[in-house]
Amino acid sequence: MSRLRIFAEGDPSTPLLSTREHGEIANQLAAIGVRFEQWQASAELEPGASHEAVLSAYRGDIDRIVAEKGFKTVDVVSIAPDNPKREEMRAKFLAEHFHKEDEVRFFVDGSGLFTLHVGERIYEIRCEKGDLIGVPDSTLHWFDMGPEPRFVAIRFFTEPDGWVGHFTDSGLAERFPRYEPGAAG
Ligand SMILES: [Fe+2]
Repeated sequence: MSRLRIFAEGDPSTPLLSTREHGEIANQLAAIGVRFEQWQASAELEPGASHEAVLSAYRGDIDRIVAEKGFKTVDVVSIAPDNPKREEMRAKFLAEHFHKEDEVRFFVDGSGLFTLHVGERIYEIRCEKGDLIGVPDSTLHWFDMGPEPRFVAIRFFTEPDGWVGHFTDSGLAERFPRYEPGAAG
């Protein structure tokens, strides 16, 4: 189930707010310029569906976002818990960083944890199947796919030369919760 928790920058132990209500999550995130939507597939997708079938099932929403934001490419990434490179992939964006383009991800299946650092607040968003998140360029954040990652996501890109993270070395991400998909609460 999707969840937003908001923390004070200096206190990773006690959330100021915790909600699983989609409208409330979207409102809280809209207030800091972050897009959060729920999309419905236009066709049933079987596990292991081709990337073409995934893109086709969400074509209307994809085209809307592309037209609005001017993205140049859209792709699909699938990561399974037995992926031999899962540790390396998980480690890549676990520390605080930003990009010079928006980070827009739609979770076709599975889940992941985006955490944003805006002003003196930390916004931790557990994204689940059906969630779209749009993090504006230059927003400080990190992403945890967990120790046994499992997700299929649609990604949107503006720049042709790949996805670059600019790291802050703040150490902030290391003080906040990591992703534990099985944990209660
Ligand atoms: Fe990122």
